[in-house]
Amino acid sequence: MGRIYLDHAATTPPDPRVLEAMWPIYTESWGNPSSIYVEGQEAYRALDAARKLCGDLLGVQSKEIIFTSGGTESDNAAIRGAAFAQRDRGRGDHIVTTQIEHHAVLHTVEQLEREGFRATYLPVDSDGVVDLAALEAAVTPQTTVVSVMAANNEVGTIQPIEEVVRIAKAKNRKVVVHTDAVQAAGSLDISPAKLGVDLLTIAGHKLHGPKGIGLLYLKARTPFHPMILGGSQEKERRAGTENVAGAVGLATAMQLAWEEREARNAHYLRLRDKLLYGLPERIPDTVITGPTGPERRLPNNFSCCFRNVEGESVLLALDMADIAASSGSACTTGALEPSHVLTAMGIDRDLAHASLRLTVGKGNTDEEIERVLTVLPEIVSRLRSLAGG
Ligand SMILES: Cc1ncc(COP(=O)(O)O)c(C=O)c1O
Repeated sequence: MGRIYLDHAATTPPDPRVLEAMWPIYTESWGNPSSIYVEGQEAYRALDAARKLCGDLLGVQSKEIIFTSGGTESDNAAIRGAAFAQRDRGRGDHIVTTQIEHHAVLHTVEQLEREGFRATYLPVDSDGVVDLAALEAAVTPQTTVVSVMAANNEVGTIQPIEEVVRIAKAKNRKVVVHTDAVQAAGSLDISPAKLGVDLLTIAGHKLHGPKGIGLLYLKARTPFHPMILGGSQEKERRAGTENVAGAVGLATAMQLAWEEREARNAHYLRLRDKLLYGLPERIPDTVITGPTGPERRLPNNFSCCFRNVEGESVLLALDMADIAASSGSACTTGALEPSHVLTAMGIDRDLAHASLRLTVGKGNTDEEIERVLTVLPEIVSRLRSLAGG
């Protein structure tokens, strides 16, 4: 058996069908979509078709799709773009988000605070579900933007976004609601009409698409100031020569994810549940983090903490055993601080240091999961005995 990749929340291997769709853009339709001659128009048509496909899949107009460089840029653009535009309309300067967002959202909101905006970071319960009563209390006539992720990248918690939108807009109908659907897009129905959101973020590389491409859904007439200035691409909402091949790759990856969603989710659930039920049976003092009920947890996410063991050592030992895993967020791996998600959920700092996340993908097999169920208990037991635990 070769390497076992169990970190699909960090990134996913590109689907060969996605690469196949992208290749002709690099070899044939490589023109600049803004050029008026034949080569440019060919590239423009490819970009236009990708935009239409993304719009159709999300059930929105293609002009409401802005292609970006990925999840981080879409999150930045959504929150900054709406916050400044709302303030310019005299609607206030208050932003509401949660304590467990990805840093692409949290650091953006923190920066806005440094630039004179005000922010509220909503607490979550022990499963990582946002406190809706706190949301209701937080939204005031001065609130302009609410940003709550559709699903969490570390513990897989699915947020009640429809409820978030209903509560926020009932308190202030001018509020703009954004959701970071980077982790949710591969498994859940995230159509903006269903969720009720005004802004929504997707990243290509989390759904077997290419890296360096994402999209921002921007509902028509939503106040928005562009963040990247220059040419008039993307209807003057995001300047710069478009990543045509990336857009085609993202659209293809989304189409495959939408078409294959049911089958993929069933596969994820089967493998994930083997971990969810099998590991605590085999490893004493395993604390599952995040919800255990499937309706509140992404089907491909398993996460836990082990008492009396250093999380980083588990990851290294797994890597030596040819298993790629994560402590939670790819961005915080190597950091000394325990995960802000786990601490917000009330997990003590010591335990939070020993976190493990295994996220399955469409290429994983039952044999691979069986191997993890054999290898991981041995690793934890060995590390505990070395530590004298
Ligand atoms: C929930 C969430 N939002 C945003 C991002 C950032 O996306 P990207 O790496 O495409 O910039 C990630 C990546 O891990 C994520 O999990």
